[in-house]
Amino acid sequence: MEFEKIKNALKKKEGERTKIRGWIYRKRKSGKIIFVVIRDSTGIIQVIIEKNKVTEKEFADAKKALIESSVEVEGIIHEDERAPGGREIHATAFNVVGFAEEFPITEYQSVEFLLDNRHLWLRSRKMTETMKLKAYMLRFIREWFDENDFWEVTPSVITMNAAEGGATVFSFDYFGQEAYLSQTAQMYLEALIFSLERVWSLTPSFRAEKSRTRRHLIEYWHLEAEEAWVRNEENMKLQEEMISYVCQNIAKKCKEQLEFVGRNPEDLMVIEPPFKRIKYRDAIKILQEKGFDIQWGDDFGAPHERALVEGEDKPIFITNFPVESKAFYMKIAPDGKTVECADMLAPEGYGEIIGGSEREEDIKSMIERLKKEGANIENYEWYFDLRRYGSVPHSGFGLGMERLLCWIAKLEHIRDATPFPRLLRRAYP
Ligand code: 4AD
Ligand code: MG
Repeated sequence: MEFEKIKNALKKKEGERTKIRGWIYRKRKSGKIIFVVIRDSTGIIQVIIEKNKVTEKEFADAKKALIESSVEVEGIIHEDERAPGGREIHATAFNVVGFAEEFPITEYQSVEFLLDNRHLWLRSRKMTETMKLKAYMLRFIREWFDENDFWEVTPSVITMNAAEGGATVFSFDYFGQEAYLSQTAQMYLEALIFSLERVWSLTPSFRAEKSRTRRHLIEYWHLEAEEAWVRNEENMKLQEEMISYVCQNIAKKCKEQLEFVGRNPEDLMVIEPPFKRIKYRDAIKILQEKGFDIQWGDDFGAPHERALVEGEDKPIFITNFPVESKAFYMKIAPDGKTVECADMLAPEGYGEIIGGSEREEDIKSMIERLKKEGANIENYEWYFDLRRYGSVPHSGFGLGMERLLCWIAKLEHIRDATPFPRLLRRAYP
């Protein structure tokens, strides 16, 4: 008999045979019966091992095997309301593949302990279902880009440009030259639109964020797109269509995972275009009316973002931020004071999930702004070439995959949106 996944075993009828393999998730003994719950990538199932129904060695091994031991089980399906999933296996064979030592993780553990043991904590069911959701998100995003005529490209993450400002860039010695870990693939994507017109990429991005928050990782998965011939408004349309596509597909196809993380699929089914657009200037007014001490020019913190989405069940865009508050490459609006940009804020206070803008075409304006940041202009010469040789209006955006997952999976902290989180004082394991 071939091995099957637990998910399939749970669909079988009383008296049918099954053969599964996985890890011991829970275990208890009562006289001549051993109850173990086995997990694999698809679920958990209870197994009953009775003396005399398996060989003596098998029974002794089952008795000895600790939690997280890897095992193979053959047996007969028995319907039982009390068992998880309504079925259990009465073992006819029980083989321990690898005896586990005493598992360090028990029921109540501190966050730090679980982070130290992240390589083991990844086996928890919450982490497992969260990682599946992330994989589904990536699958649906790929589908959406394919259907909308975007080319996937593979930019480098070693760069000489700190496009998002020097404050959060990691620098290192590149054979005697100063180089950086990429904060964004944007500039490279901009170069690629002159041949491919619509491109997207998924790369790690690095931000040396000195602040500890629930929303910042040092290394995160950055999904970015860039489109030729597109202005800010159409850029926002693409974003709201993509996010809606992902949310609705997750709602329809990931019910099991959503239930596990406590997200009602209905919350995601209602996500559809258009999303509300609010100008920064009006957002400031709204916040002042809500009693915040905030003026034109100030950045939004988490409390501001939460207040702005109060009562919203869909994401919203905040557009036209002040020139000084945004990166050098954003196109200055006709008012001269703001840029043609949009931040997408997730509902429920999960904060900014997308940052996007139309790109500046005027080289002088970019140089002026770069100088204010103290950037090395020489390193941007290649970028200015893009404006010199057949420039076109173009726009793009960047989505933090972990930020999106936090919202979709209702995670309290962004560290749980990635298997091995890089945090202010943690790069181990
Ligand atoms: O708003 P950001 O900084 O924009 C850019 O990097 C643009 N160059 C993107 C583009 O237009 N191609 O970052 C984009 C998104 C944010 O909205 C957020 O979702 C995520 O990246 N992000 C982070 N996610 C986790 N941890 C951090 N430290 C993040 N910083 C940004
Ligand atoms: Mg941003």
